[in-house]
Amino acid sequence: MGIKAVIFDLDGVLVKTDRYHYLAWKRLLAEYGKDFTEEENEQIKGVARIKSLEILLDMKKIEMSEVEKINVLRKKNNWYLEYAMKIDEDDVLPGVREFLELVKSNGLKTAIASTSDNAYIILELTGLMKYFDVLIDGYRVKEAKPSPEVYRVGALELHLNPEECAVFEDSRSGVLAAKRAGMKVVAVSDNPIDEADKWVKNLEGLEMSILDFER
Ligand code: BG6
Ligand code: MG
Repeated sequence: MGIKAVIFDLDGVLVKTDRYHYLAWKRLLAEYGKDFTEEENEQIKGVARIKSLEILLDMKKIEMSEVEKINVLRKKNNWYLEYAMKIDEDDVLPGVREFLELVKSNGLKTAIASTSDNAYIILELTGLMKYFDVLIDGYRVKEAKPSPEVYRVGALELHLNPEECAVFEDSRSGVLAAKRAGMKVVAVSDNPIDEADKWVKNLEGLEMSILDFER
């Protein structure tokens, strides 16, 4: 069975939003007198909002009540949006538009599978929304990646079987989510991700043959 749809993660695959998530977390930790390096940030890439906070509190040995957690998450998201509001067409990563046009002109369907609550606004700011048939975001699913839920719901809305969908993901938790959903996965990252079927550094110059997978 061939690939009939391509499902994309958003943050870090199509748009340079990672930097803004990082800066917002860094600003939050600075309020607790803690430093936060880009290397440490690797541990929360692609990880859901609440889970990211829990990892950071553990990493930095910070105690926090449940009420305070809700407040700081709100604060972090406001800062993220403050940075992200400046996003425009230029923040779309290299080769993204060209690849989306190629995929669509070959008659394949496209979807976004992101657990971010901010996915829609980022798609609007970058002008990418028009390329997608289906949008699954944080408001549509209960479980964060690496749960396969976001990809399973994506396949359902595309009216396809999981094995007919190929996924592009930049984080390990995202690759695991798509694999658990039964899909083929291309990792889009500086370094390979073991569980993925293929690996590219970005979408620049990709041809349709990237969607040929061994059965
Ligand atoms: C992922 C990002 O797509 O969404 C993570 O890679 C982020 O960095 C997660 O924490 C949740 O997003 P948001 O925008 O709802 O906080
Ligand atoms: Mg991502």
